Amino acid sequence: MIVGVPRESFPGERRVALVPAVIPSLTKAGFEVAVETGAGAEAGYPDREYTAKGARILPERAEVFRAADVVVQVLCYGSNDKTGKDDLPLLRRDQTLIGFLRPLGSLETINEIAGRGVTSFSVELMPRTTRAQSMDALSSMATICGYKAVVTAADTLPRIFPMLTTAAGTITPGRVLVIGAGVAGLQAIATARRLGAVASAYDLRPAAKEQVLSLGGRFVELPLETRDAEDASGYAKAQDESFYQRQRELLARVVAESDVVITAAVIPGKKPPALVTREMVAGMASGSVIVDLAAERGGNCELTRGGEKIVEHGVTIIGWFNLASTVPYHASQMYARNIGAFLLHLAKDGKLHVSRDDDIVRETLLTHRGELVNARVREFFSLPAPEAQSTGGER
Ligand SMILES: NC(=O)c1ccc[n+]([C@@H]2O[C@H](COP(=O)([O-])OP(=O)(O)OC[C@H]3O[C@@H](n4cnc5c(N)ncnc54)[C@H](O)[C@@H]3O)[C@@H](O)[C@H]2O)c1
Repeated sequence: MIVGVPRESFPGERRVALVPAVIPSLTKAGFEVAVETGAGAEAGYPDREYTAKGARILPERAEVFRAADVVVQVLCYGSNDKTGKDDLPLLRRDQTLIGFLRPLGSLETINEIAGRGVTSFSVELMPRTTRAQSMDALSSMATICGYKAVVTAADTLPRIFPMLTTAAGTITPGRVLVIGAGVAGLQAIATARRLGAVASAYDLRPAAKEQVLSLGGRFVELPLETRDAEDASGYAKAQDESFYQRQRELLARVVAESDVVITAAVIPGKKPPALVTREMVAGMASGSVIVDLAAERGGNCELTRGGEKIVEHGVTIIGWFNLASTVPYHASQMYARNIGAFLLHLAKDGKLHVSRDDDIVRETLLTHRGELVNARVREFFSLPAPEAQSTGGER
């Protein structure tokens, strides 16, 4: 089984899907690794480090696809909507593709991938279970994004975060508000606390409160009915517009008192709720900063401009995409560990096994033998349930 690692082709992408440190565990399980030359260079992993761990370096992208039984990428076609399509003709029926595929994005794109016959696994669909934790790339990238959001805010804010008592007087601590305390939000709280800020957070899932408190954050209680806020997978459920309206009214005061607002409130497959309005931005002190981690999908702040940093009412609003790629060394290391664990999970006797009796396989398997087979994705696109599926079988 040859695992192929092409260089990421999305403009500005600096991550790589496998790092050298993961290779020995794959080799031990019977895999060989073929890497496109320069694939890890931008993340801080030169070719020679891959070679030292036993990987082969191939000079051409097409060669990597040709050699590979399994292609591993960070942004596959689907999540790479700029250059990903160029990879389509390189994929084939007896091949497996693993990476971010944006399964709830465009049905047309998924059908194109299915049309190549490739067996594709979408890491976004990894179940949120203890057993799958080591393979959870969404959590890994969210961790990096939460950290980087705070560091970016600290770098932009004209104030410092920690409280200081000096001969030149006392400096009060920065106030950071996190809206959406999922994996990214919780890491943002932890990072803001480490920098000495007073961090508070709000989430509509009541379960988030304990996690926020355990990180030394304050939990913002809003008198809102949120009993039905969480689905069986632990994700937030979408609420109706009157709920969001009430939420905005209640959040306005807390936002006005904050120097930094990090928004990370999303619902899988839905446009993120608009939680910070123009009026709320205008109510913030001049020099305040908003980092909108939901920007890529439309943003939680009404004024966010996707991919840009703007100033409105004296408040800097950062809507950059793909923050994880700006920390490529550790983002790649974490992603590679997730992908390595997933490959080892699929491997048996030197072959990949697509056993749909296994929830990790069943839930991440997107396309197989020319079809979109994933039940959750089919339901999302209102397609009939997949036909009775065979279990077991190797590729
Ligand atoms: N292996 C595991 O058990 C595992 C792994 C990862 C995450 N999780 C859990 O899954 C859950 C989702 O995590 P995630 O980071 O993927 O979430 P996410 O990225 O889907 O959403 C981010 C956060 O936004 C919140 N949100 C949505 N709408 C909101 C609104 N209107 N107002 C305020 N907040 C809103 C969500 O509740 C969530 O906490 C969390 O409970 C997390 O701890 C479990």
